[in-house]
Amino acid sequence: MKKEKGFIFDLDGVIVDTAKFHFLAWKKAAAEFDFELTHTQNEQLKGVSRVDSLKKILKWANAEVSQEKFNELAANKNADYLTYVDKMTEADILPGVKEILTEIKAAGYPISLGSASKNAPRILDKVGLTPFFDALVDGNSVSKAKPDPEVFLIAAEKMHVQPHNCIVFEDAEAGIEAANKAKMISIGLGNPENLKEADYNFSSFNEITFNFLKQLQPK
Ligand code: BG6
Ligand code: MG
Repeated sequence: MKKEKGFIFDLDGVIVDTAKFHFLAWKKAAAEFDFELTHTQNEQLKGVSRVDSLKKILKWANAEVSQEKFNELAANKNADYLTYVDKMTEADILPGVKEILTEIKAAGYPISLGSASKNAPRILDKVGLTPFFDALVDGNSVSKAKPDPEVFLIAAEKMHVQPHNCIVFEDAEAGIEAANKAKMISIGLGNPENLKEADYNFSSFNEITFNFLKQLQPK
């Protein structure tokens, strides 16, 4: 296996579009304390851990709950979210993802997941992408959330690739910041307005060729 480059994929918003499911589940949770979560607020939850997301929503709602209620809200939100996840299939993979994973793998480069989600292994299994990954680093393996670079640095270590030779695909501002802090090459996917700090921006993997990735040099 070649070790001169490693590829790190965020999950939510990069491999699959789960933001809509997080939104539905958070909306239901927030309704319990009479708060109506908006699409704009949901945008600000991208890349944010489950606990921090609930803290943000409670702050927007000006609501306070006991620790017990907090845990209950988070657990119910996740149970609700998983009802959507469990219906996911290969058809939920975002355009171009499987093609680029196939090319990277065929060329012998290591691939790791770098996600904040604790549900990542389950989602990858549901959509049938687990075999592409040499390492899975997710919300269960980190102590510090993005924009801390920990998640990506662990992924680099697991792939045995130097951080500056790693290429990170991210859809969240906090994720791009984490990749830049790790001195990795950051590629933003989605609205470039929200991802101004990314080294490169694309709207989807359909726009990214393997030749482009192959010629990327450390910054
Ligand atoms: C991130 C999502 O990838 O994972 C966030 O963008 C989500 O919206 C976070 O809150 C944690 O996910 P989970 O699946 O552990 O609740
Ligand atoms: Mg994401």
